Amino acid sequence: MRILLKNCRPVDPEMEIPERADLLLEDGRISQMKTTDNQGDSSAGSAGIETLDLKGAYLLPGLIDMHAHFREPGYEERETIRTGSEAAAAGGFTTVAVMPNTRPVADNPATIELIKARAAEVPIDITPLGSITKGSAGSELAEIGFLSQAGVRGLTDDGQPVMNSEVMRRAMEYASDFELPIISHCEDLKLAAEGVMHEGYYSSILGLKPIPAAAEEIMIARDIALAELTGARLHIAHLSTFRGLEMVLQARAKGIKVTAEVTPHHLTLTDREVLGYDTATKVNPPLRGQQDLKALQQALSQDEIDVIATDHAPHTVEEKMGTFDSAAFGISGLETALAVLHQELILTDKLDWKRLVRLMYYNPAKILGLEAQGLRTGARADLTVFDPDKNWQVDTDKFKSLGRHSPYNGWELTGKVLITIKDGRIIYDDRGDQAEILY
Ligand code: DOR
Repeated sequence: MRILLKNCRPVDPEMEIPERADLLLEDGRISQMKTTDNQGDSSAGSAGIETLDLKGAYLLPGLIDMHAHFREPGYEERETIRTGSEAAAAGGFTTVAVMPNTRPVADNPATIELIKARAAEVPIDITPLGSITKGSAGSELAEIGFLSQAGVRGLTDDGQPVMNSEVMRRAMEYASDFELPIISHCEDLKLAAEGVMHEGYYSSILGLKPIPAAAEEIMIARDIALAELTGARLHIAHLSTFRGLEMVLQARAKGIKVTAEVTPHHLTLTDREVLGYDTATKVNPPLRGQQDLKALQQALSQDEIDVIATDHAPHTVEEKMGTFDSAAFGISGLETALAVLHQELILTDKLDWKRLVRLMYYNPAKILGLEAQGLRTGARADLTVFDPDKNWQVDTDKFKSLGRHSPYNGWELTGKVLITIKDGRIIYDDRGDQAEILY
């Protein structure tokens, strides 16, 4: 199948490309890219070519989310690899790294093989992460060598910190031997105690049990010390505090191998959102204060953050209903990420498209050791088309994800993923009346 994408604005910070371009996709690859010629194009309307006029929409390399929970095996009522991949396609992601807190935990090659087999049934690329410890229980190391052989690209006990520092030290040593990054969920469980939201003014007036920022920062400091000791590659998952950020920057300046990711929700929302006790605002780490938000936003524009990752963490309606105290931590993030970042950060000049492509494509690929071919002739045609003018309203009932909780539910957004292409094939199309998944 051949597809001609006419009149788009390609974004790729690593390539010399035209501002307005027409791209021909053939055999799953970008076979031609040239400056849009509005005077008429000879290939337009040619037989056997599906021609799409993108009317100036942005064209990005298919986004990579290095932090999502697809829940399979074991928690298929929350999400499956299929529904998660549909949510990814709808959000413009063509590659997703999935977290190992499944049932069983992905701490062994058999579970990784199972995830890979399921992943082969969907068109997006799914790269499973392995756990650091057996059962993510924090005491015994997982079979790191076998996990590496099975093809995992990173190790994490996400959802649970590795509280035992000696175990984390050994994990870092093994991970270095296999050239894998340790992706750390930084949380001191004793200090976080039974907390459910960020500790500050709003936790006081809402009467909710607080989680101090220090619960995250203490563990960031510890993991940086261990990364220095072991020489391991450390990636901080869902960084959310300004002091945590300062520590990452200081460590990096000293030559310690540390990278960090931030979520769209920690870049756009604060703990004030919890007013009203909506459990769609309950995430771990919690939505933080204004100072944290500002610092993270500023860090983006100074290239101090490496990755934006969704922490897509779907739960069932039952798990999210009831009191704020009892509800599960986590929200579905894949389907809103790009549009929220566009409206809240790009349109307000806090982020630009080229940086976004670094944060959501090149840098996650580099950290996980994935190939990033970008927008060049000959590259695999994994592409995201984003219409910056389309107005829409977030409606979680329309989510492809089985998780129906989002703090953005009801938001009016300007800008939307229009088309997602994987290996030269349209897998998501929102040009008609109804958004369609085409696989
Ligand atoms: O909010 C969260 N939910 N944070 C995590 O770290 C884990 C995740 C989950 O698995 O539900």
